Amino acid sequence: MPNWNALKSLNHHPLTRLFELDNERVSKMTQNVAGLRIDMSKTHLGDEQLDAFIAIAKEMDLLGKRETLLSGAIINPTEERSALHITERGLGDEQAVAEAKLLQNRMKALIEAIDAGAMGDIKHILHVGIGGSALGPKLLMDALGREDAKYDVAIVSNVDGAAMAEAVKDFDPQKTLLAVASKTFTTTETLMNAQTAMDWMTQGGVSDAIGRVIALTANPEKALEFGIDESRILPFNENVGGRYSLWCSIGFPAAIGLGWDAYEEILQGAAAMDANFANSDLTENAPVLAAFADLYYTQITGAQTRAIFAYDERLRLLPDYLQQLEMESNGKSVTSEGEPIDYASSPITWGGVGTDAQHAVFQLLHQGTHVIPVEFIASKTPGHDFDPIHHETLLTNCFAQGAALMAGRDNDDKARSYEGNRPSVTILIEDVTPATLGALIAYYEHRTFVNAVMLGINPFDQYGVELGKEIAKKISNEGPSGFDPSTSALMKAAFE
Ligand code: F6P
Repeated sequence: MPNWNALKSLNHHPLTRLFELDNERVSKMTQNVAGLRIDMSKTHLGDEQLDAFIAIAKEMDLLGKRETLLSGAIINPTEERSALHITERGLGDEQAVAEAKLLQNRMKALIEAIDAGAMGDIKHILHVGIGGSALGPKLLMDALGREDAKYDVAIVSNVDGAAMAEAVKDFDPQKTLLAVASKTFTTTETLMNAQTAMDWMTQGGVSDAIGRVIALTANPEKALEFGIDESRILPFNENVGGRYSLWCSIGFPAAIGLGWDAYEEILQGAAAMDANFANSDLTENAPVLAAFADLYYTQITGAQTRAIFAYDERLRLLPDYLQQLEMESNGKSVTSEGEPIDYASSPITWGGVGTDAQHAVFQLLHQGTHVIPVEFIASKTPGHDFDPIHHETLLTNCFAQGAALMAGRDNDDKARSYEGNRPSVTILIEDVTPATLGALIAYYEHRTFVNAVMLGINPFDQYGVELGKEIAKKISNEGPSGFDPSTSALMKAAFE
């Protein structure tokens, strides 16, 4: 388990003092990687804190664990699995990289066939999947597919039929291809949505709906059982975790919607970030430094949440994506060895878009009693052709918030006083492109991994989601009795 005591006992300077102490602070604490300028200077990491974190990283064998991850050895002990998402980007075990490439080429070939009309006149892609089988493709399409997407792509995750109704309302069932995305191919919501989508196609005059379905899965046997022809199953390795699966066939809607070249650029962008993570010293390693800042606030100042604000509409789904990545990975109470931990693990990830959030939640960030580390993400290049004043205003606001959180302002009237010394990281991207978005996502993946190693936990399992699933099954199989009185009464009120 990590020993935070040395870190805790250091002299912790206010942010403004850290800048006074070191003229070079901005350049020292800014990493330029893969089109991302990551400025961590407005965090409380000073030289002493960095040294203390490096000592903890040594204790926790961060370099050894990084090597384990990169080599494709077992890094997920509870499921006895490796974590092979990096091999999709060409890094790691040679054989695994070659296998990933083969499967990607299989996806490419199927996409080329669909583009050439092999499945009829396809105009719409309806993707059903949930969690990691939806959030990545959704983010990619929302960020990059606003103009010029080759197909209309709709991604349905919720079991609420209203989500399906909304998704297909402008789709022609005869011109729709259904992609069923599920690593396990057993997820209730996804299989129900797949069946509903096929019924909708059949009612719309498609004589062989199953012939319009493709499967994206690590469990091809289940997809075959479902009735999907082997030629339309795009498998991936089961050692690619669900929340890391947009790099393999789960990324199908992005690969077909944005085009293969764009999809490859996403992978290359991620690979550029992988190189920083895999090869840089800890003090120049963007994901590592970001994780140190995360841990500083959870362990030293007791932050329970971390907020991410995208100052770019194209990245509005990033907080949703990161909620799964970070909270499903690191929301744990035991170490990799199953020992209870007596320190905080993952903070709650939340966020929104700027400038909207400034007029809604920023009051608490500036004056609330919680100190919430904030991450701002902005792009130098706008995602539109309107008057550049829009973009200037957007960026100015973004930078003003970081400055205000740090500087604060005193006032005799305490209601008008700002404490300041509130931390933020600002990521300025050249533009929101396939490559920079790939790099950004990879940055968060590695940061999540480093956080887990430093906390001594396993980020690659997610047993916490099982109990609710089991109880839902039990309720639907056995009806309202046998549960706690509140649950039974709710069931009766809803269904009887
Ligand atoms: O219930 C959680 C979870 O297992 C996630 O980890 C996963 O991304 C999601 O459900 C969907 O699972 P699948 O891809 O197997 O349908």
